[in-house]
Amino acid sequence: MNILLIGSGGREHAIAYKIAQSKHLDKLYIAPGNGGTASLGTNVDISVSDFPAISDFIVSNSIDMLVVGPEVPLADGIVDYLKDNCKNKSLKIIGPTAAGATIESSKEFAKRFMNAHGIPTAKHKAFSANNIDEGYRFLESIKPPYVLKADGLAAGKGVLILNDLEEAKTQLHEMLCNNKFGTSGATVIIEDFLKGIELSVFILTDGCHYVLLPEAKDYKRIGEHDTGLNTGGMGSISPVPFADKTFMDKVENRIIKPTINGLIDEGIKYVGFIFFGLINCGGDPYVIEYNCRMGDPETESVFPRINNDILELFSAAADKRLDEMTMDISPDSVATVMLVSKGYPEKYPKGMPISFDNPDKDDIIFHAGTKYDADNHLVANGGRVITATARGHNMTEAFGNAYKLADKIYFDNKYFRKDLGTDLTNLK
Ligand code: AMP
Ligand code: GLY
Repeated sequence: MNILLIGSGGREHAIAYKIAQSKHLDKLYIAPGNGGTASLGTNVDISVSDFPAISDFIVSNSIDMLVVGPEVPLADGIVDYLKDNCKNKSLKIIGPTAAGATIESSKEFAKRFMNAHGIPTAKHKAFSANNIDEGYRFLESIKPPYVLKADGLAAGKGVLILNDLEEAKTQLHEMLCNNKFGTSGATVIIEDFLKGIELSVFILTDGCHYVLLPEAKDYKRIGEHDTGLNTGGMGSISPVPFADKTFMDKVENRIIKPTINGLIDEGIKYVGFIFFGLINCGGDPYVIEYNCRMGDPETESVFPRINNDILELFSAAADKRLDEMTMDISPDSVATVMLVSKGYPEKYPKGMPISFDNPDKDDIIFHAGTKYDADNHLVANGGRVITATARGHNMTEAFGNAYKLADKIYFDNKYFRKDLGTDLTNLK
């Protein structure tokens, strides 16, 4: 099979790493890819948003399957565009249509969907500039912390959690009347604060059946012990010690199955990944958000634990026969430490040369923001630069190995969190 993978982050490097291991692979192309994917296939200089160029590439390179990594092209309708316009009518696609992607691209839609299908989530109300006064009164009627969410895609930055009522009112005004998050914030959701520890759960679905992928936990804040600004993710671990069978059974019965049935009921044909962002509130799972794609940096810890041939899973999803598949998951722990350019997620330098000592056999280096410069040197090309990913028999060993690997990766201005995993050890 010839595969085209869309995206350029650590998630896409991890997906490419599994595709490259498949016995069914002929050629792998990644658009646009990064310095790491270049070693597993051919990077193609096409933007994830250039649907006509992607469509032409699929035809001229006899692509059999398209795998879409990030949410933006999905929400913008890449799948719908190719179904309508691509001359390759037998193309298999892993990724939902724009209607499916609405589970992520509109929080208001996601909330309505969860309420309609009895899926546990925080109680909420939606407000726009027209009823901002009702929004102020609603804030006065509830207790802090106040959770304000921009309705649309905001690259993980559209959520504010505030303790002060006046500040919450000011921010509601900023979002609704002063375009704080652009059009993403034209509708704002105000919802109950859920107290607990977060978990990322993933499925691959063909629209009727699903396979459960390994769960993971990611670390969003820039500073140690979850302080400072939110980032795209500073590391991840899979499996997650508190996600035991009792908890995961609740997740499947209360959340995953009702979600699949809800999509069927609403006539949304969904092929691809669903990422359930959950909070464990005293042993009960609640959905904070849906995403229509895999998580980053969760994929870097999740995919190395999947022993199945990934193209067999993808083909079964595209052909609606995922019920025939059985997951083969490694019992190992896999830990990912994200090495970033210091200053991220605000201003940070790029272009620093990167080098590393040879990793051990159980270590993996996934590139997040790297590229080869004009002289063919690997350089930093983003805030999240590269991962130190490692296996272990348990979480402590996996993080220990990942931290050893992090010390063997060199670039100027390197920063990473050194406390990952300690929150979970202290839970036990
Ligand atoms: P979201 O973009 O909806 O995933 O929210 C970003 C982050 O805000 C989440 O990962 C949580 O850490 C936090 N968050 C969102 N909603 C809530 C909530 N209702 N209660 C507590 N924390 C929340
Ligand atoms: N790690 C969270 C996300 O991918 O949205």
